[in-house]
Amino acid sequence: MRVNGKAYRTIWPAADGEAVEIIDQTLLPHQFAIVRLTTLEDAAKAIRTMQVRGAPLIGAAAAYGMCLAMRADASDAALDRAYDALLATRPTAVNLRWALDVMREHLRNRPPADRAGAAYRRAAEICNEDVAINEAIGAHGATLLGKIAATKNGPLNVLTHCNAGWLAAVDWGTALAPVYKVHEKGLPIHVWVDETRPRNQGMSLTAWELGQMGVPHTVIADNTGGHLMQHGLVDAVIVGSDRTTAHGDVCNKIGTYLKALAAKDNGVPFYVALPSPTIDWKIDDGIAEIPIEQRDGAELSRIRGRLADGRVVEVDIAPEGSAMANYAFDVTPAHLVTWLITERGICAASASGLRALFPASARSGVPQHA
Ligand code: MRU
Repeated sequence: MRVNGKAYRTIWPAADGEAVEIIDQTLLPHQFAIVRLTTLEDAAKAIRTMQVRGAPLIGAAAAYGMCLAMRADASDAALDRAYDALLATRPTAVNLRWALDVMREHLRNRPPADRAGAAYRRAAEICNEDVAINEAIGAHGATLLGKIAATKNGPLNVLTHCNAGWLAAVDWGTALAPVYKVHEKGLPIHVWVDETRPRNQGMSLTAWELGQMGVPHTVIADNTGGHLMQHGLVDAVIVGSDRTTAHGDVCNKIGTYLKALAAKDNGVPFYVALPSPTIDWKIDDGIAEIPIEQRDGAELSRIRGRLADGRVVEVDIAPEGSAMANYAFDVTPAHLVTWLITERGICAASASGLRALFPASARSGVPQHA
């Protein structure tokens, strides 16, 4: 996607072919900074501290983390150490485990001397596959949105929660890919952007990237969506996913479940866009089985902003001594999801719906998107 007119991905191998470069998303929207990762520890820290975030990008960053590890030490022990260190960074987005399984499987039976080279090649493939998958999601989702647009006078109004745009993947994104495709076709579209407390991925990242791409949008407080739906100002909700079960339960950023309830109550279609590596074929009951990350309470009690003189500062917004609870994700049960949008097409959020699109994965229990 473009930043100030220049094409970017969110992660790429540096010119020296060894280090890995990322856009530091903790500094957006106030600063656009490229950061170099040169060690396994750098990659793990980038995922843990959310310099890179979003399920598909977490997977890609983990793949490059394995590359950096193999460059330093390509032994079997180092391979397993890197796998464990990266897997421990964040618990919810299943793309992390998927990418680490793909990389370890790809490297395990190779002589250590070949592992670093093979790792960089496989990580690059994972990134290119991610871009192709997301563009396909964009095309399928645009068909869905186009059908609604055809019934309307005036812009199509979609609401999104968190950031599931190109910043959350290698490129294109998932939930925002159909928005970009519709916009590219010249169809009028407007996006309601949930600010997405406490880390404000909507305010800081989604609004920023939509602005860079010239897509009309309005930032709203997280509690506003239901009111807008009651007044017919939302034609569809489209969100991403960090882990979707084999039965169609969808785990995504905290607050997504509440949007799904409001959408159901107001007859607004609720779409979930996801690439196949985000499907966890080993889990049926999302509410009971998906590990939900809890992050530091300071993400809730402190907030970052830019002063009039351009300095970026962090301030306390909470009374001293109050306890904080910071759940990062929630689960929307399958019955609240209108359609799942994948790279292979659109299906019901159900075991039979997913099985029809991904028969081999449903049989083997392992994502097989190629
Ligand atoms: O905590 P984050 O910013 O990693 O959470 C991201 C989300 O919840 C996204 O909606 C999800 O990962 C899908 S990204 C295409």
